[in-house]
Amino acid sequence: MRLNQLLSSEQLTSDLLFELFEKADAMHEGVYDCLKGKIIATVFFESSTRTRLSFESAVLRLGGSILSTENAKEMSSAIKGETLMDTLRVIQSYADIVIVRHGHNTELLEVAKNLYPMKIINAGAGSGEHPTQALLDTYTIYRKYNRLNNLKICVVGDLLFGRTIHSLVKVISQFENITIYGVSPDLLHLPQEYVEYIEKNGATYTKCNNIHEVPDDIDVMYCTRTQSERFKDVKEVQEIVVNLKTLERFKNVIVMHPLPRNSEIAPEVDGDPRAVYFEQAKNGMYARMALLEYLIKEV
Ligand code: NCD
Repeated sequence: MRLNQLLSSEQLTSDLLFELFEKADAMHEGVYDCLKGKIIATVFFESSTRTRLSFESAVLRLGGSILSTENAKEMSSAIKGETLMDTLRVIQSYADIVIVRHGHNTELLEVAKNLYPMKIINAGAGSGEHPTQALLDTYTIYRKYNRLNNLKICVVGDLLFGRTIHSLVKVISQFENITIYGVSPDLLHLPQEYVEYIEKNGATYTKCNNIHEVPDDIDVMYCTRTQSERFKDVKEVQEIVVNLKTLERFKNVIVMHPLPRNSEIAPEVDGDPRAVYFEQAKNGMYARMALLEYLIKEV
């Protein structure tokens, strides 16, 4: 069944991923105008650089036009007490696809269900999910390794509030022979519901106390910042820093990060061939072009 809405990474089946990867590869080369005459709205209740701008660049590259409210929390009628449901119901008549970032983990998902078949993309919901980030993350891994099975992935940092982590572990664990190692500060472990999801999918999750416990032969090291905006006692968190010394024994790894970073990856890593985070951000634009093309197509 074709999707009208991308709300959870659970919708990113392997078939859909590979269809989107193929399209995203083609988007690197060709000229596409599938959004010509279409209007796409970006409605962001939380801050964003990459997600919003890569979506907007994707829209423009596909010949579409954009309606944008980048600070919807204060600059939309939300501040006047309007519900998300009413806001989206109105935007429905202005735009062909609506891309929403929201501060609450599940409200957008519930509202979107009630507005079906309105075309809606979840561009990050609270500390819950960020499915288009998982799309571009798996796309980046696939471009490097030409596979999404038989991978050892280490996720580092704020595994409790990091929505990019939550969506990535859900998507990647559907593939064969996936081992995930989690390294986080004490207060920020991966919630049990995600550990259970990984294990239900047949993948393995190992909680590590520090990076020294992670085996040398991992394929991916995925770092994230502490989500300090969601965390009251941020001073208590001992940040885990990845630098060239940390990476010495990980010879064949790629180092990923959804960005923005704070100090969790030392700038000295940027020039190392294992660092792919800027390329990852660029891949995001192509992956989002592929997703927009998929959603606008009437078949
Ligand atoms: C992430 C997000 O918003 O969840 N950024 C992004 O979309 N690239 C990660 C973060 O804010 O730490």
